[in-house]
Amino acid sequence: MPYYSDELIEEVRSANDIVDVISSYVHLQKKGNDYFGLCPFHNERTPSFSVSQKKQMYYCFGCGAGGNVVTFLMQYENDTFHEALEALAQRAGIELPKQELSGRARQEADKRAKIMEINKISAKYFYAQLRMEQGKKGLDYFAGRGLSPETLKKFGLGYANKFSDDLYQYLRKQGYEDEILKDSGVISVDERRGGHDKFWNRVMFPIMDANQRVIGFGGRVLGDGEPKYLNSPETMVFDKSRNLYGLNFARMTRNPYILLCEGYMDVIALHQAGFDNAVASLGTSFTAGHAALLKRYTKEVYCTFDSDNAGIKAALRAIPMLKEAGITTKIVNMKPYKDPDELIKAEGAKGYQERIDQAQNSFLFEIEVLEQEYDQKDPESKTAFYNAIAHRILEFPEELERNNYIEAVADKYQIGFENLKKLVIHQGTLEGMVKRPTPLKSGVQDKKQQEDGMRKSQKLMLTWLIEEPELFETIEAYLTPEDFTEELFRQIAEIVFEQHRQGALNPPGIIDMFSDKEQQKEVAGLFHASLKEVTTPAEKEKAFWETIIRLKENSINYRSKHLQPSDLAGLQTLVADKRRMQELYKRKP
Ligand code: UTP
Ligand code: MN
Repeated sequence: MPYYSDELIEEVRSANDIVDVISSYVHLQKKGNDYFGLCPFHNERTPSFSVSQKKQMYYCFGCGAGGNVVTFLMQYENDTFHEALEALAQRAGIELPKQELSGRARQEADKRAKIMEINKISAKYFYAQLRMEQGKKGLDYFAGRGLSPETLKKFGLGYANKFSDDLYQYLRKQGYEDEILKDSGVISVDERRGGHDKFWNRVMFPIMDANQRVIGFGGRVLGDGEPKYLNSPETMVFDKSRNLYGLNFARMTRNPYILLCEGYMDVIALHQAGFDNAVASLGTSFTAGHAALLKRYTKEVYCTFDSDNAGIKAALRAIPMLKEAGITTKIVNMKPYKDPDELIKAEGAKGYQERIDQAQNSFLFEIEVLEQEYDQKDPESKTAFYNAIAHRILEFPEELERNNYIEAVADKYQIGFENLKKLVIHQGTLEGMVKRPTPLKSGVQDKKQQEDGMRKSQKLMLTWLIEEPELFETIEAYLTPEDFTEELFRQIAEIVFEQHRQGALNPPGIIDMFSDKEQQKEVAGLFHASLKEVTTPAEKEKAFWETIIRLKENSINYRSKHLQPSDLAGLQTLVADKRRMQELYKRKP
């Protein structure tokens, strides 16, 4: 990892006007002081994506994406911080000092770049082979599977011919040594036999990352044979749990959801049929890493897996991971066909669209699978099934949501809403007694609301500190960064207070102090929160003092609870703070 100084980062950032940079990706229109456009990070029809030239920040009121010019590139291009910075430096004609790289980091970066090159050369090689005499078998195979020439081109499909070392010889001629070839995953090097191609006599599917760079391959046998697909091993650039096949296209979709399939051929068939939002995992099962990746692009995923038992199992595994990532899931039924590829062949795009329209809620799908485990003709078994349903419904923390599911399930299995509801409450108390606190207790909810309210107040105070610098003196008289009890907000407060004291408030710079994308998003949100509330000066004044009081009260409370008996200094400040509260109550209009 190269390390650049804060000054250098600042120089690069200020040399790239955010409106200029974003304009080359998003069509922006000026409205008042800010620019607006359609958000590139979620699907929308009316613009809620705003760019402020004054603050050099962007923020989407729809999905909460936000940040400065560097984070924009990180989000949009999937770049690391350093990749984004390098791109911006180049754009502004600033030379980044190479020697700031440590020796080892430079070596690693060189190696990654070389592996990327080898992948690209190999992809071109396979692509060319498919169109040569010896590639006819491959071309026939693809044609037999109904792929058009445009599709072959779009996905860069190719052919690895039957010679087992021609790619190896070709790459050697281009100057690549055995060592790096071995690390690239396309060549295996054996002490005695020398270098060999990993793939031969297979049709080739280059695997691209979200930025269209080839990072690995899948190769399929022509016809029957084992293994059906051979995949590149993981390499420095190929992380199977952080990439998805087809995401380079699907990320551009205007559809609000992503279609998740099992196979490469499914993805290709779907895109060919006009479904530009299909992706698949890379010869491995779906992971939490994939779910997190998808969350960057969508809020909803349709699982369109194979109709066999393995497909059902895969869906049951994926649903909770997607849920954990904050994605809602629907399940698309492919029966009686094996997979999306076959369904489209038989019924066309229209037939597939109908399946999407009929997709099932993931919870109801899970219940349907559960149903198979119980003998519905046996009363005891049937009761056990209903109890199992009640148990599952308890996983929803919100009463409203629980009721909706009680209604849907009661309808479907003709249990009756009140009956099932009673069962859920009964099951809830039962489980509450034996293990977890039942989510039915309303006290839990209240506490959470209180916490949310406190977060909001702290956030609002930070927004004021940033957006209305003239308030700093008043705020500083009553609050310190320690009064922000949320860890992230406390860190931000420390930076903002420090910048104010130096007389150099620099909002975009605050974002760079946080390397985590979620944190950056949270910070960026602070700069735009107040735009949403239009209030009269009198209301604002009142809200201002109330917020100071709430923060201080909360902080006093928090400190009283966490104070160590030996901490005399802490006790003194606490007492002083309590006394000053009276003054604060008086100041409130
Ligand atoms: P499938 O067996 O369902 O294949 O495997 P498919 O995608 O429908 O392919 P066709 O239609 O028979 O050509 C689904 C996915 O599982 C991985 C591949 O990523 C494949 O696309 N897989 C399967 C392997 O990695 N290796 C295998 O041997 C089989
Ligand atoms: Mn298939």
